[in-house]
Amino acid sequence: MRKGLFITVEGPEGAGKSSMMQRLIQQLEEEGFRVTGTREPGGISISEQIREVILNKENTEMDGRTEALLYAAARRQHLVEKVMPALLRGDIVLCDRFIDSSLAYQGYARGLGIEEVFEINRFAVDDVMPDLTLLFDVRPEVGLARINAHVEREVNRLDLESIHFHEKVREAYLLLSERFPDRIVKVNAEASVEEVFHQSMTYILERIRATEQ
Ligand code: TYD
Repeated sequence: MRKGLFITVEGPEGAGKSSMMQRLIQQLEEEGFRVTGTREPGGISISEQIREVILNKENTEMDGRTEALLYAAARRQHLVEKVMPALLRGDIVLCDRFIDSSLAYQGYARGLGIEEVFEINRFAVDDVMPDLTLLFDVRPEVGLARINAHVEREVNRLDLESIHFHEKVREAYLLLSERFPDRIVKVNAEASVEEVFHQSMTYILERIRATEQ
């Protein structure tokens, strides 16, 4: 039986997920929760190897369905090796990107179809869906400007996509938040760091309290 709480953080590029996740993990630990912070591929060797293939800038011939299948495969391994054991221990698992990234990037922005990508991901996650998803919403021009300001951050193949692609990613996330209103909550990631932190903590603590009842 799964005891913990599975929380995912999603959003387009430059939404500030990674740094905010560190703060959220620290705060939750200070409040006495046991937290596993992770990100796909989460240091799982098999998933890391798959990701190297996906994000390699030289793999320009990669087919969209191949990409979607590889993400789903990497997700499966990370879920089995890291997420599930932590949930079984009763941890709060905070994961940077999960199934909604595939639905938004591969399903909608690349045009494979949200339903089709959902289908292969259902096989991968086997009913393990997040209890809560924080969607860090940011307009592409704001997100991409943030990325460009951090020149030391490694630029990957998907960062090089056109602004149009990033607009579609955002649109997809907003559609998903309408489709799964009980699971996905929107956080205004253009607000100040303090506000984003406060909003995120409020949603997380609300969900923890709801599961305790
Ligand atoms: P990453 O280095 O994790 O960037 P970020 O800080 O934006 O999360 O790069 C992951 C990239 O892979 C990002 O462009 C989103 C993309 N991605 C997908 O297209 N589908 C997926 O299922 C996942 C997990 C990521």
